[in-house]
Amino acid sequence: MPSGIKNASILTEYLLQFTQTNKRYTNMLMITGGAGFIGANFVKDWLAQYDEPVLNLDKLTYAGNLSSLAALQGDTRHVFVKGDIADRSLVRQLLSRHRPRAVLNFAAESHVDRSIHGPQAFVDTNVTGTFQLLESVRDYWSELSRQEQQAFRFLHVSTDEVFGSLYPTEPAFTEVHPYRPNSPYSASKAASDHLVRAWHHTYGLPVLTTHCSNNYGPYQFPEKLIPLMILNALSGKALPLYGDGQQVRDWLYVKDHCAALRRVLEAGSPGETYNIGGCSERTNLQVATTLCTLLDTLCPRAEGGSYAAQITFVKDRPGHDRRYAIDASRLESELGWKPAETFESGLCKTVNWYLAHQPWVDDVTSGSYRHWVTQHYGEGEPSCPAS
Ligand code: NAD
Ligand code: TYD
Repeated sequence: MPSGIKNASILTEYLLQFTQTNKRYTNMLMITGGAGFIGANFVKDWLAQYDEPVLNLDKLTYAGNLSSLAALQGDTRHVFVKGDIADRSLVRQLLSRHRPRAVLNFAAESHVDRSIHGPQAFVDTNVTGTFQLLESVRDYWSELSRQEQQAFRFLHVSTDEVFGSLYPTEPAFTEVHPYRPNSPYSASKAASDHLVRAWHHTYGLPVLTTHCSNNYGPYQFPEKLIPLMILNALSGKALPLYGDGQQVRDWLYVKDHCAALRRVLEAGSPGETYNIGGCSERTNLQVATTLCTLLDTLCPRAEGGSYAAQITFVKDRPGHDRRYAIDASRLESELGWKPAETFESGLCKTVNWYLAHQPWVDDVTSGSYRHWVTQHYGEGEPSCPAS
């Protein structure tokens, strides 16, 4: 028996409603990192559209938040497992038991500032974790029938940051842009992309890799620019812009990213990479002022005046990339995807979402989201009997 299965404290598997099912599905997706920002949006959107169940493996780091998945309580199509992508025996056992037709790898350490202060976790999860996951998946995939092998997909969710920084007049990143990662985060993601590519070329694993620009939308942890600005503005705090605030990012509404991933999963060619972007380049200062204008209308300051008065310029991030821009034309011409939201419409939805979800915000800002399971279900997470 694999070591990860013997130890119930390592393997803590449960449906969110804490019921077990022995049903085996012919089709199932395995999602890693599905309690994070993009993963949780993906799982919810998937289950809103399809009956195909989701096995959700997440380590529940500080960025993993089960309250983002609260709406799936009682939904037997969602199987949640607390665990590490690097735990080979656990992952291998889950693959054998649930037999997914695809694995989508969202699990990562994702925040650039944290990677500067503590790069080790980024190498552990993004590099070693992806390696271990690839090995577990390769082992599982090698035992599938030829037909199942051909249909199988490993979709690796990566970032535009692996391409490094652009000068103002340079064309946007295409899929063949050279890798020039500059932060520990982007370097660790670049390393994981190379592993994924090699597992295709060497072992034939049918992989797909996507490079997406900066996401924003519901359930984003407020260490990232847009939710941080919204919540700081509403609580009367400073809105900190690094350096001169003239750094440029391309912004994509998270649900558009999820739609693009569904399309790549459905129709992408194994071994290929796809850029995903919002056609919305903005400086950080433009993002902050647009947010302030929206908030001025949706939730005017009690003391009057604009939230823009709270914008403050602070010390720059070391090695701060000046500009990212994504050319997502391949995804549009080959697979017919383009974003549904403009930056303005997506931002308006996002601000409204944060205003309407105070309990989620309170859970996150107080830190109590980390105890969400015990708060909602009492002490002791039921463990899954080894099977
Ligand atoms: P996030 O930090 O919000 O969520 C990451 C999730 O992974 C968390 O739930 C965390 O608990 C989980 N996790 C971390 N280490 C793990 C491990 N070892 N095993 C299992 N689970 C683990 O990140 P996000 O913003 O949702 O990003 C998801 C993916 O998309 C990442 O791979 C990121 O690099 C990529 N991406 C993000 C953006 C963005 O703007 N947020 C843009 C492009 C690409
Ligand atoms: P972030 O959301 O951390 O994403 P990334 O660094 O992966 O692009 O930051 C987006 C941009 O906003 C980036 O240029 C850094 C900047 N930024 C600030 O100016 N102030 C802040 O407080 C944060 C969190 C980010």
